[in-house]
Amino acid sequence: MDANIAILYLKSLYQRLMAPIKYGVMHMRQITKLHDFNWVFDQDYCGRILKGDFSDKLKRRVAECILLFRNFNATANPSLPYISAWHEDSDKSIWYEFAASKLLDLLKCQSCEVSEIFRDSIIKWCSYDYEANNDTVSQKMLCRTALTGMRKKLRDDGKLSGNVEAVYKIALQDNKIIWLKDMASVESFQDDRICLSLGALMDVTKEMEKEEQRQAEEEELRGKHAALEKELEKQSKKLWKTQIEMIYRLAQAAGYHDNSTGLHITKMSHYCDILSEAVGLNNEERELLFHATSMHDVGKIAIAEAILQKPGKLDEHEFELIKTHSVIGAKLLSGNDSPLLEMAQSIALNHHERWDGAGYPNGLCGDEIPLSGRIAAICDVFDALTSERPYKKAWRINDALSEVKKGRGTKFDPELVDLFLSRKSHIADIKRRFQVDHEQGCA
Ligand SMILES: [Fe+2]
Ligand SMILES: [Fe+2]
Repeated sequence: MDANIAILYLKSLYQRLMAPIKYGVMHMRQITKLHDFNWVFDQDYCGRILKGDFSDKLKRRVAECILLFRNFNATANPSLPYISAWHEDSDKSIWYEFAASKLLDLLKCQSCEVSEIFRDSIIKWCSYDYEANNDTVSQKMLCRTALTGMRKKLRDDGKLSGNVEAVYKIALQDNKIIWLKDMASVESFQDDRICLSLGALMDVTKEMEKEEQRQAEEEELRGKHAALEKELEKQSKKLWKTQIEMIYRLAQAAGYHDNSTGLHITKMSHYCDILSEAVGLNNEERELLFHATSMHDVGKIAIAEAILQKPGKLDEHEFELIKTHSVIGAKLLSGNDSPLLEMAQSIALNHHERWDGAGYPNGLCGDEIPLSGRIAAICDVFDALTSERPYKKAWRINDALSEVKKGRGTKFDPELVDLFLSRKSHIADIKRRFQVDHEQGCA
């Protein structure tokens, strides 16, 4: 039976089972039966209430339900009615007043053994919300150790709400696994301190096996997905490391050609990081800028060494040639959509633009110049000033900072200049860390 139909059937049957018994519509013979319980003992009655010292009200309720449940049990409906009970003041262990013979057949036991099976053989408990819309069964599984507390909670909840709804996975003696859907109504008899659970079970083994298989497949897919994600992350990290290594090697190659040291690239990256942190870039953006800035002068690889290493002043033609390194560098780094290379390309192109629009190659001004280019412009000049070159000595930090300040609002973004000057101690730390013996130290 399809789970959907089975559950709907169970719900409608359950309502019928739980409807209050109207004496008016009952046969006289049946009413008599509710005052004389001997008929109950005709069959295999293992309960305690009808033989015990309990109120007539409780006994009548148990008897009328047994009568109804036996009638239902005799029909062709697939539900398995039962009546369980527990004493509210004792350890609340359950016993059964009635168990449908079909249930006994399924469990392969006597009625007096039902409570034992439910106590010892339930290996999984779950809520069981059938969603007709998307044809799925959502479960909440509990481990075996949680079951004892769960059963108590189930009974307490049932007493409070008047209803119990659950699914049990039961391991039978022959290792056969069955799933039973339970829907019950809990009634409390305060005079006797007894609770009755009037319920019906439905064998939903087929549906739940399908559901378990679906969940196992889902779990397997999740596992494969996680493994793939892990592999992808590993490959991404590898690719990132390769990219970084390549750009540093290329930057180094350009540096050898330019006769500048690898230290210029390293220091400039650190100065840029100080400034990008001051601006408020996030860690990911800072890391990109840190590495991308090392490529700012890669275009110099296409400029003749004689010009790059000329000790004297460059003539106009030579300077025009030098200026082409920004466009050449950007071209070298173009055609790749990696964020690192995109930023490197932008920095290579824009690090000689000026805030007032008098820079090159495009004469951008103000915010038209990408932030990374404006940051690199300040740090490039600062490090060039504080480093020794074939044609000049290294400037002292304070002198170089004064020079940067002079460019505030003309060469450089004024706000970035302020931030740069405010980070003097950090800048000095970097300068000291990468100090070359013959260069001068702090101010
Ligand atoms: Fe440059
Ligand atoms: Fe540079």
